[in-house]
Amino acid sequence: MIDQNFGALVLAAGKGTRMHCQRPKVLMELLGEPMLWYLYQSLAPVFEDRVWTVVGHQADELRQAFPGHAGRMIVQEPQLGTGHALRTALPELRRAGLSRLLVVNGDTPLLPHSILTHFLSESVLRDTQLAFLTLVLEEPGPYGRVVRAQGKIKAIVEAKDYDEERYGPEPQEVNAGIYCLDLDAVEPLLGLISQENRSGEYYITDLVGLAVERGLSVEGLDQGCDPHLMGINTPAELVQAEEVLRQDLVRRWLERGVIVRSPESARIGPRVRLEPGAQVAGPCEIVGETVVECCASVMGHTFIKNSVLRRGAVVHPFSHLDSAEVGPDSQVGPFARLRPGAVLESDVRVGNFVEVKKSRLARGTKASHLSYLGDSEIGEDVNVGAGTITCNYAGRMKHKTVIGKGAFIGSNSALVAPVPVGRDALVGAGSVLTKDVPAGEMAIARGRQRHGARKG
Ligand code: UD1
Ligand code: CA
Repeated sequence: MIDQNFGALVLAAGKGTRMHCQRPKVLMELLGEPMLWYLYQSLAPVFEDRVWTVVGHQADELRQAFPGHAGRMIVQEPQLGTGHALRTALPELRRAGLSRLLVVNGDTPLLPHSILTHFLSESVLRDTQLAFLTLVLEEPGPYGRVVRAQGKIKAIVEAKDYDEERYGPEPQEVNAGIYCLDLDAVEPLLGLISQENRSGEYYITDLVGLAVERGLSVEGLDQGCDPHLMGINTPAELVQAEEVLRQDLVRRWLERGVIVRSPESARIGPRVRLEPGAQVAGPCEIVGETVVECCASVMGHTFIKNSVLRRGAVVHPFSHLDSAEVGPDSQVGPFARLRPGAVLESDVRVGNFVEVKKSRLARGTKASHLSYLGDSEIGEDVNVGAGTITCNYAGRMKHKTVIGKGAFIGSNSALVAPVPVGRDALVGAGSVLTKDVPAGEMAIARGRQRHGARKG
């Protein structure tokens, strides 16, 4: 259906003024991924690499966020409206040999794949020269109004410019901002768009009236009130769209055999992979490339990003995991923090108020309470007592702590790295270790308890 002359253009150069934010609007996130990511995801299977993006003054930020798309980003400077954005991009698209173009507003990230492919096949089959998607809204708000006469498209008139005397009573049908253009037919019209409107901008929507006047075939494909096609212009619209997406994703996981308790408060990002038989309870936020394997369980009030939970692992409430791996049957929390590079092998226990960073804890090891374990390599079946701290930072360099299999670290010990603690060694409670502890030995490094008469 889609040939090499058919490409897509995302309009993403707008300032996003209504969002009151310095960052490009299309980089604002829904469930941990930028708006633009979602659009690229739905366009890639259809258009492969024939996807161009019109970007504005923060072009560098967008290029950094999507290096794979950077080569096809076209700068529109200044931003004089959606019609001007298309006009700016057209020479490059023509040089690339395109003759048919899908244009999508960058602030409509939830465009469903099924609607996209239906729209494209309808436009191609009917050989429509200008087609666009429409919505029917009880309150048409700021959307462009679709003007029809006897069912036939006449024009799109922007909300600000709508004049009932000229166009009749306001319709509820509005423009969704997704167009399919036959470039040979539409290109000559681009120079005819004017800035004579309330915004003083060149509107892409003016192409519709111009095309109708010249007898081109123009179609508006009605999608009812599908919330996936809503544009995101304001913070309120951002969270509404995020909620639509959130519900879609939770429903999908339930259908695939994942137990999602309190589903109304489970936030699960689009790149997360949950195996059937995994359990998740809201409220929680699981984002990035997280994997939760079968029989693993995430309890409520947790945040998990880019982490892996192997079979039977349990993350108890109020835990925070970022780029960590929790091995089979290991237990984390409540109130634990696993930072990047924390790797728990199988049957490990990391309890309340334990922070682990860039450390590997081997099978059966326990750090049950109040510890900081950073830059360390901890062998199997080690007992890390309450209050153990690996002092890994000497002001300039980080040093590694290595603790051998079966060692026992007494409570409230500070291990001033680098101090290897050998296999089966024992460290007495309250020690500040600055020297190596050989395998099988006991070390105590603390002041002796002294007694004397109480004064006063
Ligand atoms: C636009 C449509 C409106 C439609 C609505 C659907 C126009 C004139 N109006 O209105 O009919 O109902 O979308 O959501 O097109 N952009 C650029 N360069 C610019 C200006 C905007 O690339 O100079 C980009 C923006 O980043 C945005 C998209 O175009 O992603 C749409 O612009 P926006 O200002 O949001 O248009 P709306 O007022 O929502
Ligand atoms: Ca918009």
